[in-house]
Amino acid sequence: MSQRSCLSVILAAGEGTRMKSAMPKVLHAIAGLPMVAHVVKAAEAAGATGLALVIGHGAEKMREAAQKFAPKAETFVQEKRLGTAHAVLAAREAISKGYDDILVMFGDTPLIDAAALAAARQKLAEGAAVAVIGFRPPNPTGYGRLIEKGGHLVAIREEKDCSEAEKEIGFCNAGMMAVAGKHALRLLDQVGNNNAKGEFYLTDIVEIAGAEGLDVVATGASFESALGINNRAELAEAESIWQARRRREAMLAGVTLIAPETVYFSHDTEIGADTIVEPNVWFGPGVKIASGAKIHAFSHIEGATVASNCDVGPFARLRPGADLRQKAKVGNFCEIKQATIEEGAKVNHLTYIGDARVGAGANIGAGTITCNYDGFSKFFTDIGEGAFVGSNSALVAPVAIGKGGYIASGSVITESVPDDALAFGRARQKTLPGKGKELRERFASAAAAKKKAAE
Ligand code: UD1
Ligand code: MG
Repeated sequence: MSQRSCLSVILAAGEGTRMKSAMPKVLHAIAGLPMVAHVVKAAEAAGATGLALVIGHGAEKMREAAQKFAPKAETFVQEKRLGTAHAVLAAREAISKGYDDILVMFGDTPLIDAAALAAARQKLAEGAAVAVIGFRPPNPTGYGRLIEKGGHLVAIREEKDCSEAEKEIGFCNAGMMAVAGKHALRLLDQVGNNNAKGEFYLTDIVEIAGAEGLDVVATGASFESALGINNRAELAEAESIWQARRRREAMLAGVTLIAPETVYFSHDTEIGADTIVEPNVWFGPGVKIASGAKIHAFSHIEGATVASNCDVGPFARLRPGADLRQKAKVGNFCEIKQATIEEGAKVNHLTYIGDARVGAGANIGAGTITCNYDGFSKFFTDIGEGAFVGSNSALVAPVAIGKGGYIASGSVITESVPDDALAFGRARQKTLPGKGKELRERFASAAAAKKKAAE
């Protein structure tokens, strides 16, 4: 089958009014990736070599987004929404290039799995002209019913056109199908709109192909695979199914999730074996965690790389560009942005490190802040290996602290500190014996005099 060329035609022209959104429906994300991009990924995993995206509403936004998730896709605008067959024909130019298989998919069915698509393509390889992906929903109302006879599919009847007996059928059309490229345009061009909705139904090609004596079959998919998203409640349902799948996959790959239902992954999260993730952790896009790391509870991580045996959190925030090398530690209420925390360095408490390097083995005291921004530009802070930064220090960038440099607590460091130097950036302490008592007495008598005057 891998020898066969395949064009995936993804229908995404619908407005999606029930999303109540300024953004086209299929651009709403699951695990941080537009749902239509999940569909593209599944198509590619099933061997699609060409991609045609049929768009309509929000065409500009769709084109712009497609540049990112499917730069090779051709886009076709369906001006009027006259039905699924009409939508597929919007991509006539791509279809006529002569692919072996045409895989029709819906942009709003993001959980479709590649195996179900591949199974439909396999039927084409075995000689079928059309292979429709079917499924058994708990409640078939609203779906097209698959009408089979002797192992062949004879028709798909839309709910509105079904007889009472046909409505009893539980095997439904998931919407997606594989069509042999050599027959596709001829079959589609014969579709009319003589039905309850007055639309050109893609599903009619089943009967058209049958009438030509071609072989038409139905294959199966899980209910989840066919889940179409129409509103935000369904979007959340799809998200939760996706997350459940991904958590399971992570656990089976050797990641410990203590409370899996509270850990959120992104579509591209990479996480190594023997990493332990405590409850309530969020992985945004672009995260790579190596093996043997510990991610403590309530950490928020995006665009970050965490090497093996690092310790993160609880309550840590790793922002884009955070790069933790082996055995680095970022503790509670610390925020790291665009900064490398080198091997074994520790940033343990209440600290902001942004646009910086913290050298291997350095220790950053509680409450340290890199002052990286003057309201206009960002500046870099370089902290050398083995440096010690005392608590509550402000490092005003651009600034460098040399290897083994030592910063006194409470310092405001505005000038670079050489290797092994000790820097104080604060006033020296003065202690005046007896002065505290004297001051207290003075304040007490002033308050008493004020009270008396008021009587
Ligand atoms: C379709 C199937 C039905 C199946 C169901 C599964 C047809 C005729 N019916 O019905 O058998 O059980 O999906 O969910 O195919 N679209 C366009 N342009 C159009 C019409 C539709 O791009 O002119 C797109 C929509 O944006 C959507 C997809 O095609 O992504 C399906 O259209 P929709 O109107 O949702 O079809 P259903 O009535 O759900
Ligand atoms: Mg639908």
